[in-house]
Amino acid sequence: MSSFNTVFINGQWTPAEQATISVFDRGFLFGDGIYEVMPVYGQHFLRLDEHLTRLSNSLAEVRIRNPYSKQEWKQLLADLLEKNQASNCAIYLQITRGSSGNRDHSIPQDIEPTVFACVNPLPTVPESVKTDGVAAITRDDIRWHRCHIKAITLLANVLLKEEGSDLGCNETLLVRNGKVSEGASSNVFLVINDELVTPPKGPELLPGITRDLVLELAHQQPNLVVTERSIDEAELHQASEILITSSTRELYPVTRLDEQAVGTGKPGPVWTQLFTAYQDYKAQYQS
Ligand code: PDD
Repeated sequence: MSSFNTVFINGQWTPAEQATISVFDRGFLFGDGIYEVMPVYGQHFLRLDEHLTRLSNSLAEVRIRNPYSKQEWKQLLADLLEKNQASNCAIYLQITRGSSGNRDHSIPQDIEPTVFACVNPLPTVPESVKTDGVAAITRDDIRWHRCHIKAITLLANVLLKEEGSDLGCNETLLVRNGKVSEGASSNVFLVINDELVTPPKGPELLPGITRDLVLELAHQQPNLVVTERSIDEAELHQASEILITSSTRELYPVTRLDEQAVGTGKPGPVWTQLFTAYQDYKAQYQS
């Protein structure tokens, strides 16, 4: 059980073990809902407006009414931190379409969304990741075609990630029609001929908030050329560095791909430069 035990469920604050939802909740029956994971450094939400904008976009895409204004979300999240005396943590926020008391594929009218929020620990980047990086495999991207929506329907991601875990890997990099899309739970960057490249936003990948921040930091680095363009699968095996980003992993170097060393097989100079920039960026919020 998390040490942060107070959760928000449909307007109520309650200990996690007492929170309940209907067995007819469409999130439970159909995976009909969306979510966000937001890192908090000190007591500061990193890129809160961007997370709330993505939340609002995801809701609109799947036709679930956003139950709160941005200001109301901010108050709710501040209350969540306060009630859990939380800092340096990850907030999980989930909104499902709610329950109409039966199971029917058709979207019912006048249904109230289910809103759930809780606090999770935020892992720090392990020393072994900084010194050795992590391993990954590549797999066919078997997910649906609307991956820009942060939907809770994650069965494909879970199974793809598990294929990597079975082989001792931290991530599974996904390839659709010969093009690299993202990781099962991260965005991906490559260093090719000293250039940092990442696939452009679109329906094949989640518009990661960490991706955007890393791109911003990369543009500030002298002598680093940064390009958003589609990436051929073959380029994965030509890259001198591969990096993955997410709110909970920040920026990891992938040093083995499909059992082959990436570049020197150790975290490379671009990862080091960007990881340092990321830590400096965060430090302004961690007192
Ligand atoms: N997932 N792509 C996918 C498929 C993801 O699941 C995630 C993050 C990302 C990175 O997005 P961001 O930088 O906004 O965290 C990209 C979260 C952390 C999760 O599902 O727990």
